[in-house]
Amino acid sequence: MEILERLESFFTEADSEVRSADSLKKTEELRVKYLGRKSEITVILKGLGALPAEERPKAGKAANDVKRRIDESLERRNDELAKTMVSQLAQKERIDVTEPGVKHELGHLHPITQLMMELEDIFTSMGFTVAAGPEIELEYYNFEALNIPADHPARDIQDTIWTTSGTLLRTHTSGVQVRSMEKWRPPIRVVAPGRVFRYERTDASHEHTFYQLEGLMIDHGISVANLIAVMKTMLGSLMGGDMNVRLRPGYFPFVEPGFELDINCRFCAGKGCSVCKKSGWVELLGCGLVHPNVLKAGKIDPAEFSGFAFGMGIDRLVMARYGIDDIRLFHGGDMRFLEQF
Ligand code: FA5
Repeated sequence: MEILERLESFFTEADSEVRSADSLKKTEELRVKYLGRKSEITVILKGLGALPAEERPKAGKAANDVKRRIDESLERRNDELAKTMVSQLAQKERIDVTEPGVKHELGHLHPITQLMMELEDIFTSMGFTVAAGPEIELEYYNFEALNIPADHPARDIQDTIWTTSGTLLRTHTSGVQVRSMEKWRPPIRVVAPGRVFRYERTDASHEHTFYQLEGLMIDHGISVANLIAVMKTMLGSLMGGDMNVRLRPGYFPFVEPGFELDINCRFCAGKGCSVCKKSGWVELLGCGLVHPNVLKAGKIDPAEFSGFAFGMGIDRLVMARYGIDDIRLFHGGDMRFLEQF
């Protein structure tokens, strides 16, 4: 029967094309080409009616067989293609779990910041509030309100960096004193840590930009005894009590009496070196009882209230704590130094 041969060669052609199809898209196209409504097999099936009656069943069966076999061939090829695709993907997107990962370096707080936070904790535990003042300060708060008028020689003790508009980079955190008195009424207990600036030549213990922590306590009957008690408590919690300190008279126009508190130099154990300028002591803070004129500037009656104030150099404290012999290391940006804390 001629039709059977036609069907068989139709299958052979379809099968070989299906076998060489290289994508699922291609097999779908072949399905349309060989089994679709417009395919040759449809034409053959439609033409069955024209065959002699005895040939019709055989030819009909053969045609359906060919359809089924092409369908099977397509399925087989689809399976193969899908498997290849999956194994290619597995190869291409393979993750090697044994490969060493990218290490993320963790940073940490600067040693000055660490100590500052510790100091805040110590002072808040003693009932102090933590306040902040502006780094660009008015002349009034940095000098005038602190009993240092424009022509006062004490202005020369702190070499000041002025802005062109008449404000200044604060030379100390003491500007926060009168700012706090304007904000709160006694009893006042406040500390104000922050950055200060001086037009100063640097050496092993002097920076142009450094950190201070200001403290102020105002109440009825505050005396030098309260000042010493608070200083001792602070240094004790910080250094574990193994630090020698000395108090000597010091002049600051905004306190009366005024003192300077020194700590024993840790590098030479008091023998004298470049850090302590051969004195065996390192100056840590200035302090004293708040001058009546400063209380008045803060609208507090000196006949009723008294207070103490101190201004501590944080950089120096960090140096003493860790045995750092040059203050310039703090802002030098050397990672070998910073990574040690
Ligand atoms: C003052 O700045 C006063 N405002 C302190 C004060 C406050 C006195 C309240 C009385 C009452 P002085 O200039 O001494 O004082 O600085 C205070 C501390 O800051 C010093 O003891 C020292 O520890 C630190 N310090 C001063 N200059 C430098 C500097 N150039 N580099 C690093 N630390 C410094």
